[in-house]
Amino acid sequence: MLKVLMVCLGNICRSPMAEFIFRDMAKKRGLEEKILCASAGTSDEEWGNPVYPPARRKLWALGIDCGEKRARQMSKKDYGEFDYLLAMEERNAAAMRRICGGDPEGKIHLLLENAPAPRDIADPWYTGDFDSACRDIQEGCALWLDEIEKRIRK
Ligand code: 4NP
Repeated sequence: MLKVLMVCLGNICRSPMAEFIFRDMAKKRGLEEKILCASAGTSDEEWGNPVYPPARRKLWALGIDCGEKRARQMSKKDYGEFDYLLAMEERNAAAMRRICGGDPEGKIHLLLENAPAPRDIADPWYTGDFDSACRDIQEGCALWLDEIEKRIRK
């Protein structure tokens, strides 16, 4: 079982969208038994809160239910438990490296690191643009799933 942790700042917008989109894609590729995906935030600001309604609605529009997901803050323990810790933006990756005491195993990456145009995913909490965030997240999830699927099927 390969384990993927999607990480943003609050864990109520981008990383839960990434978690549920990634899970849906993995299921459609028949990989749901092989990959576990969860999400967390680098901050504890939103701890216990549900997915932000506009993010929830974007998922609904894709036929995806994010159910009872509640925000949580990531911890150093997650570094040991997950194989890939995927940050929505460089600022998140920097905070993750601080929380984890560095990245000795090279597990921390940007979600859009392998995109033709590598970039951060702008925070829709501030931009209000959930459409662009969702498109970026779909692009990053598909690319990482290609990568992880290759590792699984090797
Ligand atoms: P997220 O968005 O990191 O994509 O979940 C945010 C949600 C809440 C806050 C910041 C970003 N906040 O400051 O409460």
